[in-house]
Amino acid sequence: MSRRQVLAGAGSTGLLAATASSARAAARTRRSRAGASDGTPEQIHLTWGENPATSVVVSWASPGQAVRPRVRIGQRVIPAEPRPYTDGISGATVWTYHARVGGLRPGATYAYAVTADNDGDAADPFSATFRTAPGGRAPFRFTSFGDLATPNTAWVLSYGQSAYAVEAVESFQPLFHLLNGDLCYANLNPTVQPEVWRDFGNNNQTSAANRPWMPCPGNHEVEFYNGPQGFASYLTRYTLPDNRVPGFGGHWYSFRIGSVLFVSLDADDVVYQDAAAFVAGPAALTPVASTGHPPIQPGTSFYVRGYSGGSQTAWLERTLAAGRADESVDWIIVQMHQCAASSSAPGNGSDLGIRQEWLPLFDRYQVDLVLSGHDHDYERSFPVRGADADAGREVATGAVINTLRPHPVTTTDSGVFDTSQGTVHLILGCGGTDAPLDEYGTDTADGKRQAKVFTRAGRPILTATPDVYTRAAADAVEDAIWSARRDTSTGYGIAVFDVDPGSGADGRPSITVTHHHAVGADPVNPATGTKGAPAPDYTEFETFRLVRPTRLGHRRALRAGLLGRHGVGRGQRIGDAQVERPGQRIEHRLLGQGGLAQRGRGQRRDRGVLGPGQHQRPGQVAGHAPAPGRQVRHLHPEPGLDEAQQRGVVERA
Ligand SMILES: [Fe+2]
Repeated sequence: MSRRQVLAGAGSTGLLAATASSARAAARTRRSRAGASDGTPEQIHLTWGENPATSVVVSWASPGQAVRPRVRIGQRVIPAEPRPYTDGISGATVWTYHARVGGLRPGATYAYAVTADNDGDAADPFSATFRTAPGGRAPFRFTSFGDLATPNTAWVLSYGQSAYAVEAVESFQPLFHLLNGDLCYANLNPTVQPEVWRDFGNNNQTSAANRPWMPCPGNHEVEFYNGPQGFASYLTRYTLPDNRVPGFGGHWYSFRIGSVLFVSLDADDVVYQDAAAFVAGPAALTPVASTGHPPIQPGTSFYVRGYSGGSQTAWLERTLAAGRADESVDWIIVQMHQCAASSSAPGNGSDLGIRQEWLPLFDRYQVDLVLSGHDHDYERSFPVRGADADAGREVATGAVINTLRPHPVTTTDSGVFDTSQGTVHLILGCGGTDAPLDEYGTDTADGKRQAKVFTRAGRPILTATPDVYTRAAADAVEDAIWSARRDTSTGYGIAVFDVDPGSGADGRPSITVTHHHAVGADPVNPATGTKGAPAPDYTEFETFRLVRPTRLGHRRALRAGLLGRHGVGRGQRIGDAQVERPGQRIEHRLLGQGGLAQRGRGQRRDRGVLGPGQHQRPGQVAGHAPAPGRQVRHLHPEPGLDEAQQRGVVERA
C-alpha cells in the first residue's frame, strides 16, 4: 500500500493531508532553522505506550522552547509534556516534548500531526501515520539492528550508511523496530552532544515517525555530567513503558504484542568491560563555564557496572517468571546492547557479566532470542543452554579461566531451531556506524572459532605517552563452539522477524528470521582491507526459523508429568553428549535445581504479578476473535480446560 493510499484509508480519523515530498521539504526547512523562540517540531519519533495495541507516545524536540506543543489525532488535541535538559558539557538546553496517545483501536492506522503555537510550519504541520499493534494472537513483523550513528560524517563514528539503514527499516514496513543501543555515539563527540543527537533524531524521523522505534541504552548513551548514569540525553528523548522501579524509569522495560513478550535491558549495569564515556587525554575535557562542572582529567571513565544494585536483575526475574507463567505468551525476546556471545576479532567480544547475571535466568525461563549490538557485524549462535566450565584461557598467562561458555544444545546448523531447548543470540551491531567489525576470531592452535571474553573490570590504562590512556582489551579467550554463522562480507545489515502465532497445519508457533545485508558498504573491510562506500541495497544473507511446541501440547506434557517445573524433562541433563572435552564440567545442567535454584534464593519473587506492559491475564480471551476458517484450537487457551473445552470457549467467543 502506498503512503497516499494509507493516508486515504485513514481519512475517517480526521487526518491532516500530507505527502512524503512535502514532509521532506519541511524537514529541509527545519534543519536550516534555529532559534531560541522556534518551536518547530523536529526529531519526531514514536514509541509504544503501556499497551501497544491501544497506545503510542509521540516524542519530538524543537530548536527553542515550544509554546503549547501538541499532537492532533482525529478530533483530539493532546497536550505534550515538556521535558527539557541542559547538556552537562556544552551547557546547551535541549527542548523535548512527549504526548501520550491512548484509547486507540488495535491493529488500526491513525494519522497525526505535531505542532505548537510557534511552529514555523504551523500552516502545514508535520504529519504522518502509524499503526497500532494487533489485538490477541496475530502475525506481525518487526525489524532490528543497533549501532546506528548519524549520516553526518563530521561526527566521530558517524557514516552515510545510517541513512540507508533507516530507509531499509521503511522498506520492510515492520510494525516496529528494535534499536539495540549505541544510538548516535554522542559521548564520542562530547563537546557537541546535542548536535549529534539532533542529526540522529532527524535521520531517524524518516522511519520512527511512522512506526515505533524501541531502544535500549548502550555504552555510548553514557555521558559525563548528564545524570547519575549519564543517561539524561537518552531518557529525555524517549518515553518508554514503565518498569515501576523507582529511580530507573526508562532504563529497562517490557511490552507485550500478541504471543510475544519483549524485554529490553540495560547491560551497562552488568558488564565488566568499561566502554562508556572516557577521556583518553592528553588534554582534559573542560565543560563550558556556565555548567559549573570542573574539567574531567585524562584517564577518567564513567564506569556504571552495578549501578542498579541488583534491582534490574530482580525485575528481570519477576518479568520472565510472569511471562512464562502466562499461557498466552509463546515467545520471550530480549533486547540488550552488549554481547553474551560474540566472536568479533577487532570488536569487544563477549562479557562474563551478562553470562553470570542473566544467562541463568534466560535458561530458567526459556528466553527464545537475545538481540544485541555493540560489535558492528552479524553473528548468530546455535541455541545455547547452560554453560561449559573452565573453557577459557587468560590472554596474559594462558591459565584456565571459567568464562561460563554458553553451551550449544546442537551444533547442526539445520535452519530450524526449537528455542524451548536453547536461546539463540544474534549480534546485530550492523546499523550504520563507522568502523565495521566483521572480522572474527580463530584459535590458531586448532582452527576453531575463538571469542574474546571480558571476565574482569577493564579500567583505563596509561600508555607510553604521558597523560594518554587507553581502554583495557578483553582479558580472556575461549573456543566459540556456540557460534553458528558469521557475516564476513559486510558489517551492515538488518534483521527481519516474522512472527506466526501458529497458523500452519501443525499449529506450531514460529518466527522466521531473515538477515539482509549491505554488501560493499564497509568503508574498509577489517579482514581484507577492501574499501567500499555506503550502499542502499540490502540483499538476503540468510534465513532461519525458530519454533516452539504449542502451549497446549506443553500443558498436556506438564499434566502428564513428563516435564519438570521449567519445561525441561525430569532428569534430563541439558548438554549431555555435547561435552567438548572429556571430564569437562557443565554447569547449570539441571534447570530449576542446583546452581540455578541457588540464584533465586533470597530474591523477592512475585509470581503471578503481571510485569509492566503485560495487560492480559492468563486465561483472558478478550480480543481473540478467530478469523473465519482459522484453526481455533490454537488460540489463546484458558487454564484448567482440556483441548475440547478450549475449542468450545473460543468458538463461543
Ligand atoms: Fe557499544
